[in-house]
Amino acid sequence: MTSSGRVVLEHAEVAGELVQLRPSSAADAAASFELVHDQPAITDWILWDGPESIEELEERYSCWVQEREDRTLYAFSIVERASGEWAGSIGVWHYHEEPVAVLGYLVGVPYQGRGLGTEAVSCAVELAFRELQVLLIRAEVFANNLPSIRILEKVGMRHDEGEEIFHEKRGAEVLSHSYSISRVDWELAAPPKGDWQVRSARAD
Ligand SMILES: CC(C)(COP(=O)(O)OP(=O)(O)OC[C@H]1O[C@@H](n2cnc3c(N)ncnc32)[C@H](O)[C@@H]1OP(=O)(O)O)[C@@H](O)C(=O)NCCC(=O)NCCS
Repeated sequence: MTSSGRVVLEHAEVAGELVQLRPSSAADAAASFELVHDQPAITDWILWDGPESIEELEERYSCWVQEREDRTLYAFSIVERASGEWAGSIGVWHYHEEPVAVLGYLVGVPYQGRGLGTEAVSCAVELAFRELQVLLIRAEVFANNLPSIRILEKVGMRHDEGEEIFHEKRGAEVLSHSYSISRVDWELAAPPKGDWQVRSARAD
């Protein structure tokens, strides 16, 4: 156990109908670079401006669990099951001092509009509630990002009224909305259990 009794995932894979979530690795760097580098359709909607090089992504994905002072990041790849191709990524930030997880995600343009994003976020929500045992899951979304807002609504998240956030993106202020779902609301919706392979530990 950690000092706060926090669960630490050693390995996690989740299979839905359309996508599989699995830990990202350096081997995903080339496919990810292809879909994210110099792609305004992706980078206009997230705080990160995308990778400058494949090496940057190799470094980023070299360890799928990244410890920060106040949170642990789990970096998942979204793999399209039909093709086995790398279709996007989803990060789960697990906070240390509060039972909260925050999600961030992207789906490459050729894979968009087929429900992959919705299923990937739904799987990540399920994983965070079931395996990380958080009580709340949040996401921040740029105010005019309608596809992403739709995903959050479809997985049961609600707009946190009065929790507007301003971020700086390329020198301009961007308004973001906070969305969240509590464990109670998620359990009341009785979501189906996905197909799991999770190895976790409680490390001191
Ligand atoms: C947001 C994103 C992940 C969506 O991925 P996706 O795989 O295309 O998502 P889905 O196919 O599951 O579709 C999501 C919903 O958005 C809707 N949608 C798509 N384009 C839309 C648009 N221009 N306006 C309104 N809704 C739209 C879809 O119709 C779908 O809703 P529906 O099921 O009710 O029809 C993807 O567009 C993306 O990566 N965008 C750039 C990065 C980003 O925004 N990340 C999220 C940051 S919070």
